Amino acid sequence: MLITVLTLFPEMFPGALAHSLPGKSLGKLWELRVINIRDFATDKHKTVDDTPYGGGAGMVMKPDVVDEALRYAISLYADVPEIIYMTPRGKTFKQSTAKELSGNKAGMIILCGRYEGIDQRVIDYWKTNHSMREISIGDYVLFGGEVPAMVVIEACLRFNSGIMNNENSVEDESFANGLLEYPHYTRPALWNNIEVPEVLLSGNHKDIANWRLEQAEKITQELRPDLWTKYNRT
Ligand code: ADE
Repeated sequence: MLITVLTLFPEMFPGALAHSLPGKSLGKLWELRVINIRDFATDKHKTVDDTPYGGGAGMVMKPDVVDEALRYAISLYADVPEIIYMTPRGKTFKQSTAKELSGNKAGMIILCGRYEGIDQRVIDYWKTNHSMREISIGDYVLFGGEVPAMVVIEACLRFNSGIMNNENSVEDESFANGLLEYPHYTRPALWNNIEVPEVLLSGNHKDIANWRLEQAEKITQELRPDLWTKYNRT
């Protein structure tokens, strides 16, 4: 799987993705290509942004520069990858989005905006002609799409069973079945005068599975009533 990131801050990558399982498998089970959008500026000052028409604060990324960068990125794929623009205006990223995106074996191109955003014409063009998706990682505004891109990449890599060292764990974890995950315990069996739940020491796999489902339901009901309502409906 090839993941291409288009950014004005290429030095931010691989960043967090260079560590732990994503880092160990980088270059083996997945490839990261980072493209500097500024390389596609055509004037001698390498201008990538300009003041907004109609006035107002901040700068807007130029449509011609972003379009050239996207064209170059897509030309490096034999099959059609997912094309994603990270923006707080996008559809909220969920575990189900990560699963869907990771299903595209060609990989993905992630466009990271900075400043006030990108000229709307190039966004509309790529949405219409290349099915570009706009994705947000939550209802808050960051300085740019780079950290959100890392979030999307990490969540997607977890669906690659070669990268995860335990195949079961994506199926088991929070959100996979619409519930939060059950609690975990390790040694010592008695810590701070608090015991590990007895069933976990029983060795009875059926009882343990039942207890974990009960706990997952209880925790979801308490902490995420929104998820609980949805779970009950399905
Ligand atoms: N860029 C800035 N804020 C963002 C967010 N919340 N999600 C995705 N991209 C962003």
